Amino acid sequence: MDARSRGLFITFEGPEGSGKSSQARALAASLRQRGLPVALTREPGGTPIGDQIREIILAPRNTAMAPRTEVLLLSAARAQHVAERIRPALADRQIVISDRFADSTLAYQGFGLGLDLAALRALTAFATGGLTPDLTIYLDCPPVIGLARKARAAQAGGEWNRLDQKPVEYHERVRRGYLALADAEPNRWRVVDAAQPADHVQYLINAQVGQWLEELWTPPPSSRS
Ligand code: TMP
Repeated sequence: MDARSRGLFITFEGPEGSGKSSQARALAASLRQRGLPVALTREPGGTPIGDQIREIILAPRNTAMAPRTEVLLLSAARAQHVAERIRPALADRQIVISDRFADSTLAYQGFGLGLDLAALRALTAFATGGLTPDLTIYLDCPPVIGLARKARAAQAGGEWNRLDQKPVEYHERVRRGYLALADAEPNRWRVVDAAQPADHVQYLINAQVGQWLEELWTPPPSSRS
């Protein structure tokens, strides 16, 4: 990790049922196997305070939650996450992998719920102190496929939360939002087709991250001896 003065911050983003959490775990395992120090975390949550806020945000009974309440709770959890977990791990030169981060707020609360994107960006900058990911892996998946996967997993005891209950049009807007965000910042985002079998998706992610790490650690030609 000597090419940089701090660790690296990688985020996973994607709509419901895109397989993000399993793929984030798989990437963490593969980087650890290479001897790299990895901190794996998630949003909303990632800290004891954040996990309590997560319960309020996702509880199916909280149908009365106003969009601004939702975004302030998400931002509060994120502020705690950055202060308690992410910044210390980056200062310790670890590779932080977060299953969701601030782009989820732009996609879900911005494109999905229609909150003002500029206001969300300002709120996020306040919550994070300006921290942005170095690399974002976006697992793209049509909502009908992702929601069906999630419903099957829920029948087997998996989570089915308040946001999963929203209409499919909402999830379509979220997906379109993600694709617009990825288009706007191609250097940071890598889009992976997550409708493919999970082991192939994992292979593609490992290849993308491997290439990115190599480029990061290759000194520019002028500094080579
Ligand atoms: P998960 O299913 O990936 O654990 O995420 C929990 C839910 O929270 C998911 O429906 C997406 C939602 N979410 C937002 O709406 N905005 C956010 O900023 C974050 C981090 C998550």
